[in-house]
Amino acid sequence: MSVTVPNSDRDPKKIAAMFSSIAERYDFLNELLSFSQAGVWKSRLIREADVPERGLLLDLCTGSGDLALGFLTELPGFKGDVIGIDFSVPMVDRARAKVAELGYPYPRRVEFLMGDALDLQFDDEKFDLVAIGFGVRNFSDTESGVREMHRVLKTGGQLNVLEFFRDGVTFPPFKWYLDTVIPWLGNSISNSTAYTYLRDSSNEFLSCPEFERMLENSGFREIKSERMTFGIAHLVRARKG
Ligand SMILES: C[S@@+](CC[C@H](N)C(=O)[O-])C[C@H]1O[C@@H](n2cnc3c(N)ncnc32)[C@H](O)[C@@H]1O
Repeated sequence: MSVTVPNSDRDPKKIAAMFSSIAERYDFLNELLSFSQAGVWKSRLIREADVPERGLLLDLCTGSGDLALGFLTELPGFKGDVIGIDFSVPMVDRARAKVAELGYPYPRRVEFLMGDALDLQFDDEKFDLVAIGFGVRNFSDTESGVREMHRVLKTGGQLNVLEFFRDGVTFPPFKWYLDTVIPWLGNSISNSTAYTYLRDSSNEFLSCPEFERMLENSGFREIKSERMTFGIAHLVRARKG
């Protein structure tokens, strides 16, 4: 059964321009508005992922590169390499600046590239693991994005998705914080409307069960989801069947 996604008219140029406009304050606002939970969610994705010791990992919609770098800095046993992809130049610049700051040996093990998650420049079955943090919700065509992630993953490789899904939060005080405080505070500090977009894109996106169904229809198996911080975010893992 196919799943209808209401955000199919999302314009990638506008999305890239919006993220570019907030790139400078992105990390700061993430930590502030999530009361540092964003870092906790990302660490959980990294530490419990099925990462082969010498694997090649892909971090899609890498933004300022936290997940890509986290695989290198938080997993001492991991000896492989990571590629991070994003279509916003300022975001990729920030990720490159972070790895330069970390210094040897990290710049040899991670590469940050420009790219479109819906039309990846990689061969089929190239990666041992694909991760994506808060990226799927922005795709102009969610199903194409899921198919592209499936295409570049090796058979048996793991997909790890962090996302804000529709109906994730029902507790009224949290809903009020997400729907009212975050847009107001985030927009004011970033001088943009990106945090209204965050609210609307989350409320209009698929629910987590709908996203799981889409993964299943696209050939993923062993699909497991975890609610984090009262359902504000979900971590979804699946394997290419
Ligand atoms: C909310 S940020 C998430 C950044 C990072 N993954 C994190 O967890 O902090 C979403 C990122 O996805 C990127 N993005 C959205 N759609 C994309 C696409 N189709 N191809 C590549 N990057 C995309 C944006 O430029 C932005 O940097």
